Amino acid sequence: MTKIINEWDNVSNQWIDSLEGNHYRNDILVPETLKMLGEIKDKKVIDIGCGEGGYSRLLAEKGADVVGVDFSKELINEAIKHNTIHSIQYYVKDACNLEGIENSTFDSAVSAMCLMAVEDLESAINEAYRVLKPNGRFVLSILHPCFSYKNYFDEVGYNESLSEHLGKPITFWHKTLSKTINLMIKAGFKLELLCEPVLNNNNSNAGIENGIKLKTPMFLLISLIK
Ligand SMILES: C[S@@+](CC[C@H](N)C(=O)[O-])C[C@H]1O[C@@H](n2cnc3c(N)ncnc32)[C@H](O)[C@@H]1O
Repeated sequence: MTKIINEWDNVSNQWIDSLEGNHYRNDILVPETLKMLGEIKDKKVIDIGCGEGGYSRLLAEKGADVVGVDFSKELINEAIKHNTIHSIQYYVKDACNLEGIENSTFDSAVSAMCLMAVEDLESAINEAYRVLKPNGRFVLSILHPCFSYKNYFDEVGYNESLSEHLGKPITFWHKTLSKTINLMIKAGFKLELLCEPVLNNNNSNAGIENGIKLKTPMFLLISLIK
């Protein structure tokens, strides 16, 4: 676990620098996630794997009472630096162990592009379930498990192309689609909605980077209800 926390601490500056030009995140994932979350004004929302707090700030701007958690101290420090106009509460916490947060605290949970970086996905899903109120909604995005790793049935850690982009290794943990969804069902969640955003030359630079990204979904967004 320590090695992986260090990986995110080590790339924190590169990750922060990459965000402004990150079309996938800013033009596709953020709007889809907010749409799937629905009304959050005056709701208590947890942002799991909040990084430098970009989503947390957007949620706060929409009137939510936000808690952001991430296991990278560097990224949480950066989030705290930007927490000038909002009163978001940030904590260094592992998604697999949200100790200190009571059961049934939140109306909604968000986890943007974090859970494919978590080896023990089952614990992270169970923790999200635990801290949500009954009927609470959990909206998460991950790299699409069917297309992100070449050996589909091999559930292993691997360095994804993000590592190349950031210039330092980042480990992601591949899981099959059935494993991913079945862990959510096993935790007690009901599947509400799946979304496989279409990339095109208008909403991203995917076509320029690699034509295949226009033909297969790069991301999977999932909405779950407790
Ligand atoms: C690709 S970044 C996404 C950050 C943010 N959600 C966003 O979209 O801007 C993945 C984040 O997940 C965090 N992360 C990975 N594994 C984690 C874990 N087990 N517990 C908490 N945070 C984790 C990393 O530190 C990093 O901030």
